[in-house]
Amino acid sequence: MNSVFSIIFFVIIGIGEVFSQSQTPWLGAGKEVDPYHYTQVKHEFYQNAAVSCAHPLASLIGAQIMKRGGNAFDAGIAVQLALAVVYPAAGNIGGGGFLIAKKATNEFLAIDYREVAPGRASKNMYLDKDGNAQLDLSQNGRLASGVPGTIAGIFSTLPAAKLNFKILIQPAIDLAANGYVITEREANSLNSNQKAFIKNNSYSPAFVKSAAWKAGDTLFQPELAATLTRIKENGAKGFYEGETAKLIAEEMQRGNGIITVEDLKNYQAKIRKPLSFNYGGYQIHGFPPPSSGGIILLQMMKMVENTQQLKKGFQSPEATQIMIESERRAYADRAEHLGDPDFWKVPIKALSNEQYISKRMSDFTPGIASKSSQVKAGDIKESEETTHISIYDKEGNMVSITTTLNGGYGSKTVVKGAGFLLNNEMDDFSVKPGVANMFGAVGGEANSIQPGKRMLSSMCPVIVTKNGKPVIVVGTPGGTTIPTSVFQALMNVLEFNMNTDDAINQPKFHHQHLPDEVFIEPGFPDKLKTSLNSMGYKLTNRNSIGKTELIYIHGNKKIEAAADRRGDDSVAGY
Ligand code: DON
Repeated sequence: MNSVFSIIFFVIIGIGEVFSQSQTPWLGAGKEVDPYHYTQVKHEFYQNAAVSCAHPLASLIGAQIMKRGGNAFDAGIAVQLALAVVYPAAGNIGGGGFLIAKKATNEFLAIDYREVAPGRASKNMYLDKDGNAQLDLSQNGRLASGVPGTIAGIFSTLPAAKLNFKILIQPAIDLAANGYVITEREANSLNSNQKAFIKNNSYSPAFVKSAAWKAGDTLFQPELAATLTRIKENGAKGFYEGETAKLIAEEMQRGNGIITVEDLKNYQAKIRKPLSFNYGGYQIHGFPPPSSGGIILLQMMKMVENTQQLKKGFQSPEATQIMIESERRAYADRAEHLGDPDFWKVPIKALSNEQYISKRMSDFTPGIASKSSQVKAGDIKESEETTHISIYDKEGNMVSITTTLNGGYGSKTVVKGAGFLLNNEMDDFSVKPGVANMFGAVGGEANSIQPGKRMLSSMCPVIVTKNGKPVIVVGTPGGTTIPTSVFQALMNVLEFNMNTDDAINQPKFHHQHLPDEVFIEPGFPDKLKTSLNSMGYKLTNRNSIGKTELIYIHGNKKIEAAADRRGDDSVAGY
C-alpha cells in the first residue's frame, strides 16, 4: 500500500468510529475489516453467527453487520454487494441468483432473481443462417446477457432484514471507491482474461491493466462506486431505471446487445416455494425450478438413501458407484423435463415421487457401470463462475444464497460508465436442441429461449433442518457440478460423519449422464480409480470441482463454519 492510500485509509477509519446510520459503521470496529490486509480463515467455530463465502473481506463484512445488530438477511445483502466489488469473476449486480432461507420464526423464504431473456430474444437467436449454433454469441459479449436480477433479489430480501439499506451497501461503495488489495489467485484470473476484456469492451474497464496484475495490487472501481451510490440513494430504481438503466441500454448499442430500458423496468424477482424432502431424519430444503438444483439433489439423495452400498462408507467402491449411478439418472431427467415453470409445465411431483425414483434405480447392477445410452430420461406421464454464501445468525435465521454471472466475469462486457460486468446467462438456455452449453448440458423445448423466460439453472442453495431446528447451510458454484457437489458434501456430513472442513474438501466426482464419463478431481484415490475402472467406468481427470461453503449448527452456541480450500474462500463470525 503506498502512502497516499495509508492516509485515505486512516481518514476513513476515523470517520467510521462515529457510528451512525449514514456513515460507515463497518470500518469503525477496531480495523476488523481492512481492505489492504486480510487473511483467509478456512475452518472455525463461533458462538453466535457465521458467514462462509468466496472472499475474506466479504465474510468479515457479513460478520460485522451481524455483530452490529443486523441479522443473516442483512448480512446476505451486504455480503452479496461486497462480493460484487471484491470478487468480480462471480460476485455481481449484473447477474442473478437464488436465495433460500429459514427464518427464526420457522417461516421459509425462496427468492428467485434469475435473469430473464430480453423482450427481443427469440428461440433461434443464436443460430446462423444454416441453423448452426453460434456459441460465441451466447457466451461472450453483449448478446449473451439476460436481464439482471440481483438488485431486485436484494430488495426482495430487504423486508426480512433489520438495518437500513444504506448501511448494508456502504461497505461495497467504500471498497469500490477506495480500492482493495487483490490476492494472487485474483491477479492470475484477471491476467488470463485481459484479452477477453479488451475484445468485449469499447473502453478500458477497471480490470484492464497494461502491466500484469500481481498479488498486492489495489483494484479501484470508481464507476462501480457511483452505480452503487445511485442504488443507495434510489433503491432498486437506481439500477433498473434512470442513469444506470440508460447506461446499460447504451452499452447494448455499442454491439449486438438487445436489453432495453423497458426490459430493465419490467424485471421482477419471484417468490417460490422451497422444494423440501426428508432424508434420514433430516429435512432438506432446496430450490425448485427454474433451478434444477433442488430436484436433482432430491433424486440423487433418495436413490441412495438406506442402501447397503452407502453403508460401506466414504470412498468405498460400493458407495462411490451407487452415488455415480444416482447422478447419471438424475441428470438424464434434467435435459428433458426442466425449464422455467412459468413457461413450461415441469412435472415436479412425478420427478420427486418415491416410486418413480426407486424405479429409476431398478436397473442398477452393483459392480457394473450402467450405460448412459440405455438410461434415458424417465417417462413422465404428468405432463464454472458462480458464488455461494452461507450465513447463520444468533437469532437462528439460516440464509443460503447462490449468485452468478454464469462464466467467469460473465459476458466479459463491462457497462461503460457504470463499471459492472454483465452476465452471459443466455447460454444456460438450450440454444439448439442437443447442442451442449459451456457446461456440457443439453436441453430441448422445456428450456428453449422465449422473451421474459428464465433460463434453467443448476444452482443449489440448500438448508437442512431436523425437527424444525437448524442444522446445515450449504451451497457451491460449479455449473452442472453444483448439485453433485452439494450431494457429496451432504453425504460426507450426514452419512460419513465428517467435520465440515473435510466434508467440503475431500476430492469429488461428477457424472451428468452425458458425456458418459466420471469426472474426478485431483487427489481421487488410485485404489478407487482401479475399482471403478474394473466396473467399466471411464474416468476423466479434471480441475477442481466447486467451492463449497458449509455451516453446521451443533446447537448450544457451537457453530462450525468451513470455506472451500480450492479458492480464496473464507469464514468469519463471532
Ligand atoms: O445457473 C447455472 O447453473 C450456471 N449459470 C452456473 C454457472 C456456474 O456455476 C459457473 N461456476 N463455476
